[in-house]
Amino acid sequence: MIPTITLNDGLEVLATGFGTYKLKGQAGVHALQSAIKSGYRLLDSAYNYENEGTLGRAIRETAVPREELVVTSKLPGRYHHYQDAVEAIQESLFRSQLDYFDLYLIHWPNPIQGHYVEAWQALLDAKKWGLIRSVGVCNFLPEHLEVLEKETGVLPSMNQIELHPYFNQEEQRAYHQEKGIQTQSWSPLARSQELLDQDVIQSIATRHQKSSAQIILRWHYQLGSISIPKSQNPQRQKQNLDIFDFELTADDIDRINQMTEPDGRRKNQNPAEYEEF
Ligand code: A2P
Repeated sequence: MIPTITLNDGLEVLATGFGTYKLKGQAGVHALQSAIKSGYRLLDSAYNYENEGTLGRAIRETAVPREELVVTSKLPGRYHHYQDAVEAIQESLFRSQLDYFDLYLIHWPNPIQGHYVEAWQALLDAKKWGLIRSVGVCNFLPEHLEVLEKETGVLPSMNQIELHPYFNQEEQRAYHQEKGIQTQSWSPLARSQELLDQDVIQSIATRHQKSSAQIILRWHYQLGSISIPKSQNPQRQKQNLDIFDFELTADDIDRINQMTEPDGRRKNQNPAEYEEF
């Protein structure tokens, strides 16, 4: 059984989801279909992954009812002006052939461009119109979340950030917790075989009789973050959900936390400087 987590607006989601970055076309449909069969119900995508059509197709071809799925997409940086954002959400829906998204997130704050409050207002309106059930963000730093709160009085239900053992995001997670924002981890395995091979992870894995990936995904869960591992392999998809029958000790968690590095081996730039389009 995968535990559920209730977001600050009441939406219930599973504690582990499925990432789809770079999953596209027929191979993407197959990967998503096997993920849904394995038990994934929280499915992540983005306008800029160019796979909302893939996701919609996989959903239409499974026997799982739409209302059991929590489907996420994300607004690109080039559409932060209000009307552009509204139309982008509609285009995401047209491509996926869905009537609504469960979660729609602003993909990056693009603070230099500086229109993310307008984008946020569009997401809040789209929620009122029934196009989205829950509104969130990705890659927002506390300074950007503070602006949303000050300007609109509404904080996101979720902030999806880069989070893995090399980048444990301790301060950002503490801020989310204080504000009631759910943390979600992108690249939970750091897209790194080298991480899976690290002695610290392997020794903990041997003791718990689990794989390295399972140890890391369990670490995310015990930190209180929803991870969205991606795998095209049905066995690894199943394995990545099989993390709810054991518990890491406080010492295991400390040792994994200590793998964090000052630059976090970031997969992308600091959101304070990065502009996504
Ligand atoms: P594959 O699709 O061949 O399983 P991240 O989620 O951090 O972006 O990492 C995704 C990468 O991790 C993919 O390349 C995926 O490869 C690999 N991966 C996912 N799950 C596992 C696992 N349980 N063991 C080993 N590698 C995994």
